[in-house]
Amino acid sequence: MKRLITLGEFIIQQQSEYPGAKGEMSQLLSALLVAGKMINHQVQRAGLNEGVLGATEAENVQGETQQKLDILSNNIIIEAFERRQEVCGIASEENEKVVLLEKKYKESGQYVLLIDPLDGSSNIDVTVSVGTIFSIYRRVSPEGSESVLQDFLQAGHHQIAAGYIIYGSSTMMVYSTGNGVNGFTMDPGTGVFFLTHPNLKIPETGPYYSVNEGKMHLFPPEYQEYIQTCKIQENKGKKKLFDSRYTGSLVADFHRNLLKGGIYLYPPSTFHPNGKLRLLYECNPLAFLAEQAGGKAINGKERILDLVPTELHQRCPLVIGSRKMVEDFEATLDQ
Ligand code: AHG
Ligand code: MN
Ligand code: MN
Repeated sequence: MKRLITLGEFIIQQQSEYPGAKGEMSQLLSALLVAGKMINHQVQRAGLNEGVLGATEAENVQGETQQKLDILSNNIIIEAFERRQEVCGIASEENEKVVLLEKKYKESGQYVLLIDPLDGSSNIDVTVSVGTIFSIYRRVSPEGSESVLQDFLQAGHHQIAAGYIIYGSSTMMVYSTGNGVNGFTMDPGTGVFFLTHPNLKIPETGPYYSVNEGKMHLFPPEYQEYIQTCKIQENKGKKKLFDSRYTGSLVADFHRNLLKGGIYLYPPSTFHPNGKLRLLYECNPLAFLAEQAGGKAINGKERILDLVPTELHQRCPLVIGSRKMVEDFEATLDQ
């Protein structure tokens, strides 16, 4: 049997299809992969190593308690880019301001990186899937100068790459450089990622809806109505609709719906009027992947990728997944 292509081989193959490419994106992705493997190692050993599980006393800029693994993962990623030349700055959920890298790099780097170092905080200590979400833009400020905030506040359709590494029952990297979505599974024996999910397409419709129904009463009435229509009806002459699946790790819920088909909603609520998820490093990268896989992502009304950010940590409602399901949601709202 012919062995599967590795992620390293795939990246080189892709690069050779862009004459003139200097390999910076390839190196950037490789650095992310190294960081991902190190985070994976920490996640896998979390219960065994002292001082890794549990919360810190600190809060992030959004007032959320930081888990020890949130901080550890953030440090691993920043350290992975500190001595490299591709990236001039990093925006992270765990840092209030942009992290500029050493002078020689922060001026020469072509790209900016936006990350949720570890998504799914509530699941870190309980062995449910978590993940690292990333988004990459080419800087808009001139090369050779220090990176500026505007480099990070670009509309999502300007992303040149985005993806995630999911630490689940297997470890996978799923990413897109704007030419479809590909998924790679890590062989735990060798640490090598192999192309197991080439050219991923999200099914037009699927069996699942994913939303925190415990917060249903806090959602606007139109969302409540839509969620009601998703539920399975029995013996009422209505067709069978969807099963509910919600882990509380966005990356895991998105990944399942990407592979099987489904819709994920994080609506606005009285508690979080703009939703809870962050536009720059949660909604945008997943919206990029969804569209590249043939799906759809909106904030309730507008396309996520067309929103022009004004703040690094701004929140945004999210409705994402199978195209037809998101369109049915929009149709419910129009009624
Ligand atoms: P993070 O762990 O990066 O702060 O993200 C948590 C997010 C996301 O992963 C998940 O979908 C959502 O919070 C769950 O929120 P609820 O508990 O309100 O459903
Ligand atoms: Mn998150
Ligand atoms: Mn996080």
